[in-house]
Amino acid sequence: MPKSLIVGNWKMNTTVSSAVSLAENIRNNLTEPPLLDVILCPPFISLVPVYQSLKGSPISLGAQNLYPSDGGLSCTGEISAAMLSQVCKFVILGHSDRRMYFSESNDFINSKVLAALSANISPILCIGESLSERNSGRTNEIISAQLKANLNGIGQSSDIIIAYEPLWAIGTGRSAKPSAVQRIMAGLRNVLSEIPGIQAKHARLLYGGSVDVSNVESFLSQQDINGVLVGGASLEATSFCQIVDLASKIGS
Ligand code: PGA
Repeated sequence: MPKSLIVGNWKMNTTVSSAVSLAENIRNNLTEPPLLDVILCPPFISLVPVYQSLKGSPISLGAQNLYPSDGGLSCTGEISAAMLSQVCKFVILGHSDRRMYFSESNDFINSKVLAALSANISPILCIGESLSERNSGRTNEIISAQLKANLNGIGQSSDIIIAYEPLWAIGTGRSAKPSAVQRIMAGLRNVLSEIPGIQAKHARLLYGGSVDVSNVESFLSQQDINGVLVGGASLEATSFCQIVDLASKIGS
């Protein structure tokens, strides 16, 4: 059984000083050591100070994006995987915000996944369908296509993390039904087993979309849900730590 994982995606929230105090509050209020993996993903500008304040704690750090070039190209304003690798072990890629507002294609996301892996950073690959795709019964088709295209050519990879985040559930307060997510995750594991180099049973499948203290247990008690990606509820230390504590109880 893969080790459970709780990821906090702070998106474009916090200033440098509020990011550091949020990280410190989370660190101080977590029951240590947590029986699962915990990753915080602050905005780029706060990565280094948060890295410093989390040193020596069991909490890992992730970035929210990278640019897939090794520095050979002139890319003013971008951050490469090699630059991140000094402070981060993880990076969120393919988030629906980036697919929607920055028109990131499956191929472009694939190049980011490959860049992350070549710098020894584990991608947390987000996939998910829109409401209209869901209503037309295309959920499995859409997310399988995303998965196959985004993981193309990854070779032998040990730490595969996929976050299934239906777009209609993100930031809406309307989470998906845990039993429906379980069926989707079981299907995703089958798709993963057909991709060369992936050990599907060891892949960590996360659910994201309006996860909070009231519903986290119902997701994590499903067999194929190995963790959650938390947006809004990760911006407050108390709620995020409660989520981690509840998840630890299920995992133990
Ligand atoms: P939410 O965000 O928990 O606020 O719905 C999840 C995400 O976008 O990763």
